[in-house]
Amino acid sequence: MKLGVNIDHVATLRQARGTDYPDPVLAALVCEYAGADSIVAHLREDRRHIQDKDVFALKSVLEVPLNMEMSINNEIVDIACKVLPYRATLVPEKRRELTTEGGLDLVLGFDRIFRAVSRLQDKGIRVSLFIDPLASQINKAKKMGVEMIELNTGRFSEAKTKVSINKEFEKIKKAVNFSIERNLKVACGHGLDYESVKKIASIRSVEELNIGHSIVSRSVYIGLGRAVEEMNSLLAAKKTKKNK
Ligand code: PXP
Repeated sequence: MKLGVNIDHVATLRQARGTDYPDPVLAALVCEYAGADSIVAHLREDRRHIQDKDVFALKSVLEVPLNMEMSINNEIVDIACKVLPYRATLVPEKRRELTTEGGLDLVLGFDRIFRAVSRLQDKGIRVSLFIDPLASQINKAKKMGVEMIELNTGRFSEAKTKVSINKEFEKIKKAVNFSIERNLKVACGHGLDYESVKKIASIRSVEELNIGHSIVSRSVYIGLGRAVEEMNSLLAAKKTKKNK
């Protein structure tokens, strides 16, 4: 099972201060070096984290595939057609949401989404559609002629009781099998953390998991100590120089 690492929240931290660090491109290279199979970056219409220059830079420096997460907005599709990522994952986007809130509605938005899919495919970009684990959505994805879908694990990740966790898990498992039977490759993602990932990773036919927030968050705990030590050793070196 492959791991796609979403580096959006490195850019969130950069944008919070308007500095040029932390650089999501450098962070993506760290992820690549550590074994990420692909890098996911979401160029949102409001540019709240990843910026246009980031996706171009990611495409040029990464050795692993770039999976560009994006809405079907024409301006964003134009940019993707210039960046030419390995894959584009289409997601719904609302201005006020904290993060992607649900899957695309392929039933309601078929024609508009199909136009974006066709434009991307015409440029040779593989397309994945982020959808909820429902047969009706999977059937429409098949009709669109995409090679992959990404099942939204948001509800599963948010479930709190054993009963609701199992209920949401069964929905995903059923949707995975339904998709595989229709020759669609399956990725899963959204809200997965170091605990919830275990159950999803047990579904063998899932090809890829895309995870961001929990990995970037964990890096604070396992990296912050080292960052403090580095700063302290700079100060210690200064003190020693002064005392000489
Ligand atoms: N997959 C998709 C389609 C997403 O929209 C997101 C969030 O940007 C992710 C995966 C990663 O989700 P998280 O950051 O919660 O791990």
